[in-house]
Amino acid sequence: MIQNEDFVREVKRWLEEVKGWIERNNISDENIEHYVTFILAEMDHENERDSQEDRAGMIQNAVWQLDELLQTKWHTVRSESIRQQNAVPAGKHVLPPLPYSYDALEPFISQRIMRLHHTKHHQSYVDGLNKAEKKLEEARRSNNFELVKHWERELAFHGSGHYLHTIFWNNMTPRGGGRPSGELARDIDAYFGSFAAFQKHFSEAAKQVEGVGWAILVWSPRSRHLEILQSERHMILTQWDTIPLLVLDVWEHAYYLQYENRKAEYVDAWWNVVNWRDVEKRYEEAKKIAWKPY
Ligand SMILES: [Fe+2]
Repeated sequence: MIQNEDFVREVKRWLEEVKGWIERNNISDENIEHYVTFILAEMDHENERDSQEDRAGMIQNAVWQLDELLQTKWHTVRSESIRQQNAVPAGKHVLPPLPYSYDALEPFISQRIMRLHHTKHHQSYVDGLNKAEKKLEEARRSNNFELVKHWERELAFHGSGHYLHTIFWNNMTPRGGGRPSGELARDIDAYFGSFAAFQKHFSEAAKQVEGVGWAILVWSPRSRHLEILQSERHMILTQWDTIPLLVLDVWEHAYYLQYENRKAEYVDAWWNVVNWRDVEKRYEEAKKIAWKPY
């Protein structure tokens, strides 16, 4: 047995903590287990041919190795736990709250529209997405994929509806309008020629949506430039691999009660509530992703 009692007590106390942490986090790691067993055995052996000093040195060395392994493991466990906390389990999406009151965007968008749009329409996409996810989970469990085509369509429609509306609410603010600034402003000028050219293109795309859909400003991490898309319904005519930055809902439910068939008037008025700070923030995040360009 190692003679230095303080050292032994300290290492044993630390190993107890380590074992508790391993147990609480359900860690199964051969290297870690090896070092824990090794250190315990070295401290307890009565008849060893190595000198006390040699064995203390070996133990100290093993403690350092173990500590390094634990630190790496701790980082993995921590990021995994954050990832798990943030993950939405299948069928558990919820309606996000509006970042302002229902009447906050008046006179540009009426309180009545905002309330219906948020509580009825967006809610129905959340419900539809949850249902599709649960049905597909059930299909995987029962290995019955007869209705996979139907539920994948539902998943695309309601999922896109939910995600786009979630962006849309934050893309607007009562203190909106004006122009973007910083890198977004520079990149809009660089790609579209000018802010006016971008605004005209975006408005025309919105006004000319056939049936129901969206105008969407996206960032392409692949091409590394901005683009304007015109989506039908929520998910048709998209360009995969791009990140939406600014989205405009031109479904009738978004304007009809106030603007009736004057969709163009709604589109023009909408620019007064654009939250450019939100768009800039999304852009900043999106630009961190840069894939190999083709
Ligand atoms: Fe909508």
